[in-house]
Amino acid sequence: MLCLGIETSCDETALALVRDGVVIADVMSSQADVHALFGGVVPELASREHYRLIGALCDEVLRRAGVTAADIDVVAVARGPGLLGSLLVGMGFAKGLAPATGARLVGVNHLHAHLLAAGIVAEMAYPALGLLVSGGHTHIYRMESPRRMFLLGRTLDDAAGEAFDKVAKQLGLAYPGGRTIDELGRKGRVNPTMFPRPYVDNDNLDFSFSGLKTAAGLVVQANPALIEAARAVADGSVDMVGSANGAPDQAQPDVSSLCDMCASFNHAVADTLRIKLERALARENGPLPGTPTVAARKKRKKSGAVAADASQAASPCPPTVPEHAALAAHAGQGGQVPDTHRVPVRALVAAGGVAANSYVREALGDLAGRAGLPLLLPTPALCTDNGIMVAHAGWRLASLGLGHDLALEAIPRGRS
Ligand code: KG4
Ligand code: ZN
Repeated sequence: MLCLGIETSCDETALALVRDGVVIADVMSSQADVHALFGGVVPELASREHYRLIGALCDEVLRRAGVTAADIDVVAVARGPGLLGSLLVGMGFAKGLAPATGARLVGVNHLHAHLLAAGIVAEMAYPALGLLVSGGHTHIYRMESPRRMFLLGRTLDDAAGEAFDKVAKQLGLAYPGGRTIDELGRKGRVNPTMFPRPYVDNDNLDFSFSGLKTAAGLVVQANPALIEAARAVADGSVDMVGSANGAPDQAQPDVSSLCDMCASFNHAVADTLRIKLERALARENGPLPGTPTVAARKKRKKSGAVAADASQAASPCPPTVPEHAALAAHAGQGGQVPDTHRVPVRALVAAGGVAANSYVREALGDLAGRAGLPLLLPTPALCTDNGIMVAHAGWRLASLGLGHDLALEAIPRGRS
């Protein structure tokens, strides 16, 4: 089965061909430099770029694979959530191509495609606990199969990737800045109390990253030298360990403080994700030895042993969402997990752009090791948006006999 995957949900136009689960070609055009000028994705520009490129990229992926459009059995397209105008370009293209070639049309949920990408390098074990952590979403799922995923928790405000990008923007780093903050952090030392672990002193699986973003913003505002150091790294006048590339006798910016701040920020995000995932795992499989209860965390926090909750320290407390209400609100995403026949999860999965983060990968590796479960992670290149994940997910769904007619609708951002 030859499956073409089309991804246009944000600022990457990406197409790939997968034959019976094996990747045979992929192409991608990133619009990052178009949007970098504006510090974030401009939706109108994004859809125009997709429209300009999609035809040529489709020709190119077919050429690289040495096949023709008539050979395609399945046209899989990311149907969202994403930028509506951008999605409509990919969907319009797919809806033209599928009937013209006699291929089956399969609409793929972009978030599910991210998670399923973990199954490209290693066989997926179901049920699994999945963390989808990207620029627009931070979701925890119970994954029952390629088509049945139940949302257990989500961010109430910013996604983790958004927090990375906004902090990078405050430092004056190019959009999207998550990867640069990761790389700078690798040269620094973690101060575990510099930033809070936001919204963890509760009993739910939701996230709130806006307070952490604000806390990091306050640190940046109070230390203009951090911005100066970031500028020097960005323009290449010093490298990431602070060695001058220009005149050695000039006063050098304090790159080591910048790296320490980035290390501490990376660590705070990774630790927060780990805490909630550990809680989710405890609910699915029973507590891990050494997992502190919420009461124990609060007690330790009072004694100053753990960083303060950002929602109290830096921003108004996010609304408390009772868990049953949160699940009801997520019903469109697969509904409530049936309690009957609920079996322990057999693997941990993490995907989405922020799953490329080295701190996140380490923290989840440690958690999986303690839980005695395999950790399935896509390669860093497959964590961020790409066409391969859509082609792979489309192949999985088509193999289950699934497909859509031309009434397939896009899922706009915010409806996930
Ligand atoms: O999955 P993705 O490509 O697009 C969405 O569906 O949102 O994720 C993009 C996000 C951006 O916020 C980017 O800064 C972040 O992933 N990102 C990272 C890293 N690589 C990409 N964040 C932290 N560390 C990284 N290494
Ligand atoms: Zn994505």
